[in-house]
Amino acid sequence: MSLKGSDVVVTGGAGAIGTRVVARALASSARRVVVVDDLSSGYEWLIPRDPRVHFVHNSVTRIGELNLGPLEQPLVFHLAAFFANQNSVDHPQADLETNGKGTLAVLEWGARVGARRVVYASAGCSIAGHGIDAPIREDMPVSLFLDTPYQITKALGEFYCNYYLSSLSTVRCRFFNSYGPGEVPGVYRNVIPNFIWRAMHDAPLVITGTGRETRDFIFVDDLVEGLVRSAEVAEAHGQAINLGTGIQTHIDDLAHMIIAATGSRSAIEFAPRRTWDKSVHRQADISLARERLGLAPSVAMPEGLRRTVEWFQAHREQIAASAGSAIPGVPTTTSAA
Ligand SMILES: NC(=O)c1ccc[n+]([C@@H]2O[C@H](COP(=O)([O-])OP(=O)(O)OC[C@H]3O[C@@H](n4cnc5c(N)ncnc54)[C@H](O)[C@@H]3O)[C@@H](O)[C@H]2O)c1
Repeated sequence: MSLKGSDVVVTGGAGAIGTRVVARALASSARRVVVVDDLSSGYEWLIPRDPRVHFVHNSVTRIGELNLGPLEQPLVFHLAAFFANQNSVDHPQADLETNGKGTLAVLEWGARVGARRVVYASAGCSIAGHGIDAPIREDMPVSLFLDTPYQITKALGEFYCNYYLSSLSTVRCRFFNSYGPGEVPGVYRNVIPNFIWRAMHDAPLVITGTGRETRDFIFVDDLVEGLVRSAEVAEAHGQAINLGTGIQTHIDDLAHMIIAATGSRSAIEFAPRRTWDKSVHRQADISLARERLGLAPSVAMPEGLRRTVEWFQAHREQIAASAGSAIPGVPTTTSAA
């Protein structure tokens, strides 16, 4: 299964990761790339301009009723989601609507139209729960004590992917923390875009915790490579696959790296951890991605941050117009997706 000459559907294709999937599909000579996105957390200006791209501005919950144009056995990347943990704590019903019903709708539709495969964006923070210091493996048992509605509905999506396996090929990719060009800062966004944006304004970088917490940050294009291989490699069928680096970064080190990369005068401040945020350390075991997909993350953190800062500087005005209240003076978070 190759993207070359294929019809590709990217739900959430106006989002931080989805737009990079669209770009990758175009670079791989896909025939058509259909983006289904309601622009609730994505931006039309991020979608690559190309005559092969067809943008459908609507909700994935309605994908079965939408006119997506002619599609022949499409490869589907299901990335549309209500993003992310804190947002789901504040709006659990909306989270269930998109992440639960939306995923079910995509799978129902995919089976009906004869999709060759659906690659589902799951999350490394779902499934195993908190309190795990060791690298997280795909075969760890599912926890019934997940910390946020988002984690619960991401896990729910995995149950549905497995339920559909008899009629539809699905792969569950468990993303660790993605970062890179294309992620616009915002109240509910991840720590890296929010820190970069604040550093560019010399505003304090607020760490919720001690700063000694860790996350496994993967550069977006390395993650996208994992998604593409998950779509193309036959043996990925039915698998759950971690997409991370296997490397932990401390949040206070990250803050210092971003201050250096932006030449900022920002101070580092500390605030209490959010009550739901019980994962102190998070690290992916990436052996399966290495063995099954031949995947090896290629962009190290300093280079990934350099490219991300460069993107922020080149798109400063668009980001300012899109970032909403994520402006200096509003405390940001160390949100992990
Ligand atoms: N970014 C991370 O670190 C991370 C980590 C784990 C999992 N993920 C998953 O990866 C996927 C992409 O994440 P992202 O960082 O690009 O987030 P994002 O918010 O930038 O992208 C999600 C996209 O989905 C769209 N969307 C939301 N609700 C929709 C709906 N009902 N119908 C149609 N479109 C809708 C948004 O407008 C947005 O463009 C998500 O499924 C997310 O849960 C991301």
